Formats: sequence, structure tokens, C-alpha cells
Amino acid sequence: MELYVDTANIEHIRECAKLGFVSGVTTNPSLLALEDPSVDIKKRILEIYETIGGHLSVEVISTDTNGMLREADEILSWFPEATIKIPMIPGGLAAVRQLSARNIPTNVTLVFSTTQAIAAANAGASYVSVFMGRLDDIASSSKQVLDEVCEIWDVQGYDSLIIAASIRHPQHIVDAALAGADIATVPYKVLMQSIAHPLTNLGLEKFLADYDKMQTEKQKFMSL
Ligand code: E4P
Repeated sequence: MELYVDTANIEHIRECAKLGFVSGVTTNPSLLALEDPSVDIKKRILEIYETIGGHLSVEVISTDTNGMLREADEILSWFPEATIKIPMIPGGLAAVRQLSARNIPTNVTLVFSTTQAIAAANAGASYVSVFMGRLDDIASSSKQVLDEVCEIWDVQGYDSLIIAASIRHPQHIVDAALAGADIATVPYKVLMQSIAHPLTNLGLEKFLADYDKMQTEKQKFMSL
């Protein structure tokens, strides 16, 4: 399972690009709004793309098919490798169908049910983003939905890649990987939590202290 970072924060994306285990970025209008409101969106998106050098999903804000297609063309004029993120609404599926006929990658977002995922795959989505945290927030099991989607993908052989989105904690990453998701898109804070362990820090402290002790002993022995 690949890991993407779910943010529009350029400092966090720079950090992730250095870490070596993050291969893409997903953004959405809310994530962009969290950053400097005066920032030019095209400039920020291009900055993100140059920094990560991998997958970048950019979301449209239109709610009608023609508007979405116009926005997709504009985003593609910024950089042709863009993946166009489209909401899971009827007009969105029609846009996905048309973009897929032009071999333009799409990421269908705001997917909360198995039947929505099936419809997105049939429309030709390259990626289907199943939201975990927001389902759990309403006491609906995201694990159950994701398990079901992944099982159906195996049975039916759908080509769309499954993204586990709306990740809130490291256990969601584990659940997504166990279910068989292709990608998890994870907030920066949760990515950092997921690679930290207190025993790693304690272990390293002890290794370094023992090495220093050995050096001190060696110097004592040499000066005899
Ligand atoms: C997916 O691509 C979305 O940007 C994201 O995962 C939404 O997560 P949230 O529920 O934390 O807003």
C-alpha cells in the first residue's frame, strides 16, 4: 500500500518529500483554505507538484458536469500530469466518464458506501477515495465498508485504485492495508505518529550511550 500525504501545507509536503516513503499528495478546497488565504491557488498547486514530484490530486469546485470539465482542462493546462478530483455526485460521474475517455486520471472523492464505489469504478475512475474518519464519526464502520469494497474489487477485477481517505489515526492505516487498499492518504501529523515508537527512541539512546562509553574506555586504555 502506497502512502500519500493529505495536505496543502507546503512545509509539510517538503518534509514528506525528504522522508522517502510518501509518493503523492491529495488536496481539497478545505485543505487549501487552511493555508494562507492570499495564496494564488495555481501557484500553490504547482509548488506542491514540483516538491512532491509524484501523484497530485486537485479537486474541482463546480457541481455541474460542464463546469467540472472546464476546471479539469484549466488544471491540466497548469500541469498535464494532474489527477482531477471529482465529487461523488451524478454530474461528477458523467464528468469522470468523459475524462476517462480522454485518458485523464480522475479521483472520485467523498465515497462513503460500497455502491458509490462500484458506480465510480463503472464510470471509469482511476482512483476511488473511500472516507474512513467521517464514517466512524457517525458510528458507521469504515472498516466494514473498506473491507467490502476491497473484497468486491478482488471478485470483480475492477481497475480503479482504492484510496483510503479521511484517515484520523495510525490504526486507520493498518485497517486500510489489511483490507487491501492500494493507497492511504494521510494527514502529516498522523504520518509522523505512524513512524514513531518510544522503544525506537529509547533503543537509540542506549546504543549511542554505549558507544560513547566504549570510546571513553578506549581513551582510558590508550593513555595507560
Ligand atoms: C481525501 O482525499 C480528502 O482530502 C481527505 O482525506 C478528507 O479528510 P477529512 O475527513 O479529514 O477532511
